Amino acid sequence: MKRRPFIAGNWKMHKAPAEADALAEQLKRALADVTAVDIAVAPTFLSLPAVIARLRHSNIGVASQNVAVEAQGAFTGEVSAEMIKVAGAQYAIVGHSERRQVFGETDAVVARKVQACFRAGLAPILCVGETLPEREAGQEEAVVGRQLDVALAGLSADQVGALTIAYEPVWAIGTGKVASPAQANDVHAFIRGWLGRYPAFVARNVRIQYGGSVKGSNAAGLLAQPEIDGALVGGAALTVDEFVAIVQAAG
Ligand code: PGA
Repeated sequence: MKRRPFIAGNWKMHKAPAEADALAEQLKRALADVTAVDIAVAPTFLSLPAVIARLRHSNIGVASQNVAVEAQGAFTGEVSAEMIKVAGAQYAIVGHSERRQVFGETDAVVARKVQACFRAGLAPILCVGETLPEREAGQEEAVVGRQLDVALAGLSADQVGALTIAYEPVWAIGTGKVASPAQANDVHAFIRGWLGRYPAFVARNVRIQYGGSVKGSNAAGLLAQPEIDGALVGGAALTVDEFVAIVQAAG
């Protein structure tokens, strides 16, 4: 049985509340008839309340781009999974490569953030992926395997089964250099195989998104691959027509 496609837009550090609300409103209208695809957008923390309010009665879910490890306390500048949940979001992106590379998040920190999501009742979208030197050294599976080993250690099969995993090769993010459908599918198949250590329903249920320079013109080819269940979209998620085209390619 084919898994239900899941397209998520990561707005990164774009769109203050008024602009984010306007984009959400346009997407809500343009995507109102979509029934066969799960859709979510991830605005900045500041814009979360406006976007959540705008999309409350719609078929578009809302994600944060990050969560804190702790639930509350003296952690200046952080926002907890509990706060994001109370604000009304359903999902959280965890371990995005920009968090790992620019903000120094280790696999161990990513693991604690995945646990924070489950503690709070948010559905994590866990990002994994290799850098260009790692790809050139043929280490993509070793790197992704290690990221999964650490991030998912200690989770129950039910929790792992509730994850979305986003395979995002770092060399393809924001570079215009998209992985070929076959290259992406190979790593997705590796991830699916990695999930085989859990009861069968886990590998069957987990949706694996591809991320890295996805746009309207290349989405169909990627989404046609058997192991690609959706996309995590950066730049193209900021343009209504592009994001709508990607969702339509999934449905
Ligand atoms: P991009 O970003 O689509 O702009 O390459 C993807 C991501 O970072 O999730």
